[in-house]
Amino acid sequence: MKRKIEMMIVLFLLSTFFSIAEARNTIMVTAATGALGNAICEQLALEGYDLLIAGRNPEKIDDLKKMLTSKYQEVHVQSVIIDFSDTKTIEEAAKQVSPDSIKGIVLIGPRPLLSKNGIPDKSEWAKIFAETFIAPLEVVRLFTPHLQDNSSIVVISGNSSKNYMPSYPNTNVIRLAWTGEVKNLAHLFGGRKIRVNAISPGVILTRHHIERIKTQAASNNITFEEQLAKETAAVPLKSYGKTEDLGNLISFLLSEKSAHLNGTNTLLDGGESNAY
Ligand SMILES: NC(=O)c1ccc[n+]([C@@H]2O[C@H](COP(=O)([O-])OP(=O)(O)OC[C@H]3O[C@@H](n4cnc5c(N)ncnc54)[C@H](OP(=O)(O)O)[C@@H]3O)[C@@H](O)[C@H]2O)c1
Repeated sequence: MKRKIEMMIVLFLLSTFFSIAEARNTIMVTAATGALGNAICEQLALEGYDLLIAGRNPEKIDDLKKMLTSKYQEVHVQSVIIDFSDTKTIEEAAKQVSPDSIKGIVLIGPRPLLSKNGIPDKSEWAKIFAETFIAPLEVVRLFTPHLQDNSSIVVISGNSSKNYMPSYPNTNVIRLAWTGEVKNLAHLFGGRKIRVNAISPGVILTRHHIERIKTQAASNNITFEEQLAKETAAVPLKSYGKTEDLGNLISFLLSEKSAHLNGTNTLLDGGESNAY
């Protein structure tokens, strides 16, 4: 009898421990080592979220994990290797994560680098579609069992999902594919109260765009500021976004403050898009 009571106490303590572990607010961020991923991880860590960071490069992921754990010591950071050009890495990563341990996913995919001239050939399409749509969707499919009910998935798309941007031909097809898929997923997961929303940023001033603007400025023989003013002339707010702008919107979509927001695609472009 005494042994039975001891066993019951041990079981009770174990279940309490695991429910605490599971109740932690862990957010998974894919392509976490990129400019947006990095900034988003920092913002979520600052807000006290635990993180599951995913990336293709083990060294970069390790460096990011070290930076986050030394800067935000209360935050638990787990890492997995996910390479969108190899879906086996997604299967392996999913096996390493316990069920019901994730409270949200910020799904960032690689930049859809499609040729801007004419129609890309079928092998280019197949590669880019596989890496920027099929593989990130595989993350959603394989990690859904690890998502808690009442959680939130945020897909990072791009503003050509809403408005045709002549400088982003072909990639707009990938962005639109995600708009359709977000609706699909919102319906598929609604029963579990898992919300799925997309954010379509305009240009966010990351290294990639700063370098691009510098190059453009040099070729136009004008300053960086003049080039930036020229590019943002059609944006009502006359500026590009900051990573904090994106982080704030993600934070809102992950939180209970957006509890009834589902299946949406929100533009974050300072009003640049003129589509209704
Ligand atoms: N920045 C913007 O203004 C902006 C605006 C709208 C949409 N977006 C979209 O947001 C996403 C991230 O943008 P970003 O500015 O953070 O770009 P970035 O700094 O160039 O980062 C790209 C990220 O994608 C990862 N990646 C590339 N190929 C991969 C693969 N096969 N498997 C796994 N990861 C892969 C990179 O990994 P490594 O670190 O290992 O290279 C890196 O983490 C892109 O889809 C971009 O098009 C960006």
